[in-house]
Parts: sequence; structure tokens; C-alpha cells
Amino acid sequence: MLRKRRLSAASLVLTASLFSFAAFAQGPPAGGGEHHGPPPKPTNLKVFPKDIDPEELMKHMHAYTHDLGVKCTFCHVGDEKTHHMNFASDAKPDKEIARTMIAMTMEINKKYLSTINDPDAKPENKVVTCGTCHRGNTMPAPFKAPPDGPQHPMGAMPKP
Ligand code: HEC
Ligand code: HEC
Repeated sequence: MLRKRRLSAASLVLTASLFSFAAFAQGPPAGGGEHHGPPPKPTNLKVFPKDIDPEELMKHMHAYTHDLGVKCTFCHVGDEKTHHMNFASDAKPDKEIARTMIAMTMEINKKYLSTINDPDAKPENKVVTCGTCHRGNTMPAPFKAPPDGPQHPMGAMPKP
């Protein structure tokens, strides 16, 4: 199962690099490479569904930059020759870490949070996002409880 997944991932990377090579070989698109219209179809997705709406994918990407306090280049590289971003490239280790994080976050929401029937929870309480842990940082800060917490961890003890 795992082995099969790896294999198909490897062939995907290969297809993706062929694709982007073809794109670069053709040079920038007419109109000076300005980015109008819908974003191009992704070629190297391993976590998101391959037929995801590119606009939808971009919403996630923008959320990551805000939730981690970074720019796109924290996870993505540019091509030195073409001076264009190569979003399909997996050259940055942080992109691969982000894949694990995306899968983890999806799993927490789908497998666990969706099963909780808590009338206190508003819809926005019922999902974990990158920001839930990262809070605008690339590395989540360890939580330190404020010093003036309850005096006794069990609360007021009933008198015997
Ligand atoms: C925290 C890391 C991270 C940040 C920041 C980030 N991305 Fe991504 N991006 C990813 C990951 C991971 C994938 C691959 C998802 C998958 O495998 O399903 C991806 C995929 C993409 C793709 C699809 C590439 C392809 O052809 O497969 C595009 C386009 C993209 N990102 C654009 C952006 C843009 C634009 C920004 C900034 C607004 C951005 N990303 C910020 C992690 C990031
Ligand atoms: C449950 C808490 C949690 C959630 C949710 C979470 N992360 Fe993380 N993230 C962590 C922790 C803890 C680390 C440090 C682990 C490590 O680097 O070994 C980390 C590390 C990372 C790193 C590496 C940072 C660095 O400087 O090396 C990236 C990139 C990242 N997360 C992206 C994401 C993205 C994107 C999402 C949302 C899809 C996300 N994380 C959601 C807890 C979380």
C-alpha cells in the first residue's frame, strides 16, 4: 500500500518536471507573462485531490502564508534561469513538511473533530487550521500557562 503510493508519487514528480520543462521551453506566455485569468492547472499534487479547483487551491495557499507569517517562497522556489516561480518543484524541504501538516490537519478534522457533537461549539470552533497551532509563526511556540492560574489544579476542594 505504502510502496504503491511512493511509486505513483515518484512518477508524478517525473511527469510534473516534464510538464514544467515544456512550459519553460516555450518561454513566457504572450502578454509579458502577466498573471491574468485563472491560475494554471496544478501538476504535482500529492495531498490535495488532483482535480481540485485551482482557485480553491490558491485560497489554501494564501491561508498558509497568513497562518505561518511567511511568503510563498518559504515553501516554493523560483527558477534562476526564467526568473519565474516553479510552484510544482519540491526542492524546498518545508514544502514536504507542509504536505505532512496538510494531511495531518485534514485527518484531525475529518476523523476526530467531525465526530464531536458539542452544542457549545460554533462552526469555527469545529475545525483545526494551521493557525490553531502556528499562530502566525513558522514554528509553533511552546505553550506556557499564565503564572496566575488556579491555586489548586483540582479547583476548590470540597470540605470534608
Ligand atoms: C507552508 C508551505 C506553503 C506556502 C507558504 C505556500 N505553499 Fe503552495 N504548496 C504547498 C504544498 C505542500 C503544495 C503541494 C500540495 C499537494 O501536494 O497536494 C503546494 C502547491 C502549490 C501549487 C500547485 C503546484 C503544482 O503545479 O502542483 C501552487 C500553484 C502553489 N502552491 C502556489 C502558492 C502560492 C502562490 C503561494 C503564496 C501565496 C503558496 N503556494 C504558498 C505549500 C505551500
Ligand atoms: C496540531 C498542531 C499543528 C497544526 C494544526 C499544524 N502544524 Fe505545522 N507544525 C506543528 C509543529 C509541532 C511543528 C514542529 C515540528 C517539526 O518541525 O519537527 C510544525 C512545523 C511546521 C513546519 C516546519 C516549520 C519550520 O520552520 O521548519 C511547516 C512548514 C508547517 N508546520 C506547516 C503547517 C501547515 C501548512 C499547516 C496547516 C495545513 C500546519 N503546519 C498545521 C504543529 C502543527
